[in-house]
Amino acid sequence: MDLIRIDRKRLKMSLLEMGEIGHTASGEGRTRLALTEEDREGRFLFVKWLKAEKLEVCIDPVGNIWGIRQGKDGSLAPVIAGSHLDTVQNAGMFDGALGVLGGLEVIRTLNDHGIETEKPVAVAAFTNEEGARFQPDMMGSMYVSGELDLESVYNSTDDDGVNVETALKNIGYIGRDNLEASAYLELHVEQGPLLFREHVQTGVVQGIQGIAWWKGIFRGETNHAGTTPLEYRKDTLLAVSELCCRLRELASKLGNNTRTTMGRIHPFPDIVNVIPGRTTFTIDLRQYNQEIFEKGKIRVEQLVNEVSEKHGLCCSLEQVVNASPVVFPLSMTELVNRAADKCGYKHIALPSGAGHDAQFMHRICPSGMIFVPSIEGRSHCPEEKTDWDDAAAGVDILLHSILELAGS
Ligand code: HGY
Ligand code: MN
Ligand code: MN
Repeated sequence: MDLIRIDRKRLKMSLLEMGEIGHTASGEGRTRLALTEEDREGRFLFVKWLKAEKLEVCIDPVGNIWGIRQGKDGSLAPVIAGSHLDTVQNAGMFDGALGVLGGLEVIRTLNDHGIETEKPVAVAAFTNEEGARFQPDMMGSMYVSGELDLESVYNSTDDDGVNVETALKNIGYIGRDNLEASAYLELHVEQGPLLFREHVQTGVVQGIQGIAWWKGIFRGETNHAGTTPLEYRKDTLLAVSELCCRLRELASKLGNNTRTTMGRIHPFPDIVNVIPGRTTFTIDLRQYNQEIFEKGKIRVEQLVNEVSEKHGLCCSLEQVVNASPVVFPLSMTELVNRAADKCGYKHIALPSGAGHDAQFMHRICPSGMIFVPSIEGRSHCPEEKTDWDDAAAGVDILLHSILELAGS
């Protein structure tokens, strides 16, 4: 009997249709920031597709959505395939959506073939994985795993002071269901260069590196750019510029692929002839090794204070994300290996540089991830691209991993 494969054309059409939502007129990718109108549209389309497959649609208090396909033994918790539908600004169409619509394609394929599984199978879209509008990132899976309580989720606010509870109510996605999982699998684009560089079609993800984010403010003295002598200045943008360079030095010094990024820097009043008296900034630290991760977090905070003092500034720093590195269980990586071998796809073992909802689902059930190549290793940008055959290969592996986990 031929091996069951997914419907590649249907997968591609679903990704293209979802990818149109939030598409920016300038052709700069799509933007579906968490809990915005664009996110609501993406959610609406996903729920429409879940209902078309006759799934039981569930929504929890933080807006996580999942659709359950019943199994022979309904008392068992479902095997879940999931990821996220929210995006960063000007994003590609694969980050997150491939894992959600790949999970949907698995269920569509099970329905096409009338396959009954022992355990229920579900597909999930987690709220605010990206953390672009509200922090922390991976908010929906943090809530499910108990790492973030409901009040902390609801009170998180965006740049305009809108909190998550209000934003969820505005888009109508506050539910009362409770997500349970017997196992979790996430298909995702690698978002880095390894698979593309090695010309390998799929990756079996061994683990995810730690992520720490801070939001900071340097306060100095706003003054005239022409009249203020250098020695009188309390220039917060100058200080942040020095901090950025020294964070890069710190990453090199910590070694082991440590990465530091300052993705957001906003001087105030942001006027050409005014010394910025206040500058807000963010810091993102990444590291696979727990010990270096802990050391790195301490050094980052010391460095911020050192630079602030050197420039005679006041400083406030708040850590908003602290996701420890995780290593997936051998049972899950070996299961994905078997599925990839069964489907005949070349695969290598690799770690994940990006954070994913699997980082928190790992805390409540056996979890694993499947990667497919990002062309030129690009992601979080309109240039993010994955070959359609590679995307389909990832979903075939997801299908056969789930068939083994759910028992068919
Ligand atoms: O930041 C990350 O690694 C993920 O894309 N949220
Ligand atoms: Mn993602
Ligand atoms: Mn992302």
